[in-house]
Amino acid sequence: MADTHVLDYLDKTRQRKNFLPLFQTVFDHVLKVLGKTGSYEVSLTLVGDEEIQRLNREYRKIDRPTDVLTFAYREADLVPDEPVFDLGSILIDPAVARKQAKEFHHPYPRELAFLFIHGLLHIFGYDHHSGQKDAEIMFALQNRILDTLPVDFYTNQKKMKKLLLEAQSHSYSPYSHFRVGAVVVTKDGKYHLGFNIENSAYGCCICAERCALFRTYAEGYHREDIVSLGCITDASTVGTPCGSCRQVMSELMPLSAPVYIYNNDETKHLFSTVEGLLPYTFTQKDLES
Ligand code: THU
Repeated sequence: MADTHVLDYLDKTRQRKNFLPLFQTVFDHVLKVLGKTGSYEVSLTLVGDEEIQRLNREYRKIDRPTDVLTFAYREADLVPDEPVFDLGSILIDPAVARKQAKEFHHPYPRELAFLFIHGLLHIFGYDHHSGQKDAEIMFALQNRILDTLPVDFYTNQKKMKKLLLEAQSHSYSPYSHFRVGAVVVTKDGKYHLGFNIENSAYGCCICAERCALFRTYAEGYHREDIVSLGCITDASTVGTPCGSCRQVMSELMPLSAPVYIYNNDETKHLFSTVEGLLPYTFTQKDLES
């Protein structure tokens, strides 16, 4: 039987957006990264300041609201012995999450995902109060999970589509007359435009994707700053990046970064990832092994 992960979700704070799909994705991803097989259940409740302050006072003797509270039902290293293994209960205060998101200049849904990951790691026995080494292990894992989460918290598709058309309009393509636009999004919320630039010596042409990526690097950004890449071509079908661009993308972007590819009038698209476009990537590791 396939593993099923049950998220018993209750939003007592009536958020405008339904965050259940996000939390379900986070739950599945955490179990995958931790290599947990079997079926698990966890309860997640979004609560207000008052409720979380009361629980924080009762269980931790700290009389103020907090961002996340975790109640693990069992010992961390137990293996599932029931069809669905009940892990425990996590409470998140969205008001505190929103404040922290502002403070750290992160998107609010990212902060919610971060807090849920934090709670889940506690439930699986990770602890940051038990010493510096333990804290380092937990925080490194937390970041790895967040960075590889198949969710793009930053790219606004409406803005992406608009800027792709703008980038494409600058294309210098007097030989092929095939205009390509590309946009790279970085975590600071900036969009970096690129387009294909051709040359009478044909081999000197540069594709839009590489132009946008090189420009982003020239502005001082690195792989871990990059969120996503979008591109658009003059074709009515969805024209995917060439092999050379895929190779460059695999070096300069995270392999899990989303790639949004649009056709000429943006009525068709293909959404993939760097790794989805270039599996079995040749990397620096191959040079060293
Ligand atoms: N081109 C791109 O900009 N990106 C691709 O991934 C494929 C091709 C450009 C290069 C050249 O200027 C024109 O399209 C025709 O190949």
